[in-house]
Amino acid sequence: MDRRIVDRLYRILGRGRRREGGLPGTHGNSGPPLFEAGGRGEPGELTVKRLDTPRMTVIALTVQQMRWQRDDFARLEQALGLAASGQRLEDELRPIVSRAISHMRRRPHHARWHCQWVAVLKGERRIVGSLAFKGPPDRDDSVEIGYGFDPFYHNRGLATEAVGEMVRWALGEDGVEAVIAETANMNVASMRVLQKVGFVIVSATSRYLYWKVSR
Ligand SMILES: CC(C)(COP(=O)(O)OP(=O)(O)OC[C@H]1O[C@@H](n2cnc3c(N)ncnc32)[C@H](O)[C@@H]1OP(=O)(O)O)[C@@H](O)C(=O)NCCC(=O)NCCS
Repeated sequence: MDRRIVDRLYRILGRGRRREGGLPGTHGNSGPPLFEAGGRGEPGELTVKRLDTPRMTVIALTVQQMRWQRDDFARLEQALGLAASGQRLEDELRPIVSRAISHMRRRPHHARWHCQWVAVLKGERRIVGSLAFKGPPDRDDSVEIGYGFDPFYHNRGLATEAVGEMVRWALGEDGVEAVIAETANMNVASMRVLQKVGFVIVSATSRYLYWKVSR
């Protein structure tokens, strides 16, 4: 798959109506309880997985939730007990999510390595970022991570916080010895995130840097 397309998968956000205000969230926490997931019980469903960071909950989406992410973002937000944001998945990314769903259904034991994870800012009950592993552990027992955050929330340490927790979790999973990542060599923000999380550069081409953090 074209690397640029894969990277764009992690930029699903940002087409919604932008709400005023920044961190810390000042919006009320009233409304339905957070993260009441729906759609369990079909091949590829996860045991609902959530990772907590100080400011976010990072949630592994189920097959049904990924269908909503693709087709009805408001329904996904509703299912997770979030505020309606007006966001939606970019049209060109829908086939990529469809492919991930199909992987999850065919290989349910690897669902956590194929699904999308969304980073929800606790104070605002809003999805501010999206992360994913690009498949199950490879021959070197490595999993590759990708991520993108809503531009409105950049440079507040959120990606570092979420990626750090995803990496910590992944390195604790059986069969995972390392997490790898790649960045375009102009992508200073992403490079900085990886550095802060503890990745080191292991190789490079004229356009890309390849990163790794081990157990
Ligand atoms: C990469 C990305 C996820 C970072 O998200 P973020 O929440 O802003 O990241 P953080 O705030 O945790 O850290 C960003 C760091 O980059 C630094 N940074 C950002 N732009 C920079 C620039 N132009 N020059 C130097 N440093 C820069 C910030 O200062 C910060 O470092 P610091 O904490 O040392 O000050 C976000 O920019 C993004 O979504 N980009 C588009 C998708 C993408 O490129 N994904 C990665 C490919 S898989």
